[in-house]
Amino acid sequence: MNKHGCYMGDNIKEIIDFSYNINICGIKDGLDKYLLSKISSITRYPEIDGLSAKNAICDFYGIDKKNCIMGNGAVELLYLFARVVNFKKVLIINPTFTEYERAFKILGTEIIWGNLKYEDNFELNICKFKELIYSDEIEGVIICNPNNPTGKYIDEENLVKMQTIANNKGMYFILDESFIEFAMDEVPKRKFEGEKWFVLRSLTKYYAVPGLRVGYAIGSETIIKKLLKHKEPWSLNTFAIEAIPFLLENREFYKKGNNQIIKNREYLLSKLRKLTNWHCFDSETNFILCKINENADKVIEYLFKNKIVVRTCDDFKGLDQSFIRLAIKDLDSINILLEVLKNYYI
Ligand SMILES: Cc1ncc(COP(=O)(O)O)c(C=O)c1O
Repeated sequence: MNKHGCYMGDNIKEIIDFSYNINICGIKDGLDKYLLSKISSITRYPEIDGLSAKNAICDFYGIDKKNCIMGNGAVELLYLFARVVNFKKVLIINPTFTEYERAFKILGTEIIWGNLKYEDNFELNICKFKELIYSDEIEGVIICNPNNPTGKYIDEENLVKMQTIANNKGMYFILDESFIEFAMDEVPKRKFEGEKWFVLRSLTKYYAVPGLRVGYAIGSETIIKKLLKHKEPWSLNTFAIEAIPFLLENREFYKKGNNQIIKNREYLLSKLRKLTNWHCFDSETNFILCKINENADKVIEYLFKNKIVVRTCDDFKGLDQSFIRLAIKDLDSINILLEVLKNYYI
């Protein structure tokens, strides 16, 4: 596992960490007091399945409760799903989030890799999708949208087409929308055709709460019932359950953070694109992927010496050490990064 995002130990305060991709809004005023006011509840078990949190999520996002399951982050639900479906073969379209491979591989599932190319800007279109799902032996395909680490976003029309194609082939369509709220204000309610679909969502990124561990998934009634049968009890802790209504009620605050991210992203891209040896990809989310077409290790080391950490990407299948991922941070941090890079290239 790539050690990024808060692995900097005691030096954390001095470091500007571009490696972890969380909304820049920080903690909403009042969340600390609100959670502290719930402290007496930790002497009791939380709800076994986080029912009140699920009700809040379903009401807010317009999801039918029969189609929803709560988890200790989206990652818990990914691993649970992999265990329950127990595929022989799954298609993972790379470069993408590394946990998909791990979740399926530990169960003995064979990974079929669908490789998107640098020359094609790592874009996935319908034609490419059809080409990748050629084999009838593939039982499921995973798509991350917007994709980590490329930042690429597949629009709704094409996404629905892909699901229909997968459905017609009898394949599971697994969609990870953990970053969807950075790409659009009104997230889709999600109800796909057929039984074989599953959508992961996370509150970690948009609501800036990686430490709380809150995620949910939407799926057909059949798969949700199966998952509930296999899921461990109490995986949502008391504070996670209590925080959800607070986070949702304050969505405007998180939206403001994202509006700033969009502005900062375009600013950072416009500046980085002036560097001759850098290729920076368009992104619809809160990070950008860059390829450094020179000695990237040296650049990364120089940044680190100047207390700037970036997400190296050589652990992403299909990328190598010349790629880095930069989270979109506040303007001051971005300007420090740009200044350090300017000094490097002088
Ligand atoms: C694409 C993607 N999905 C899911 C997750 C994990 O989300 P959670 O914190 O809700 O488990 C990550 C974390 O980096 C991610 O990049």
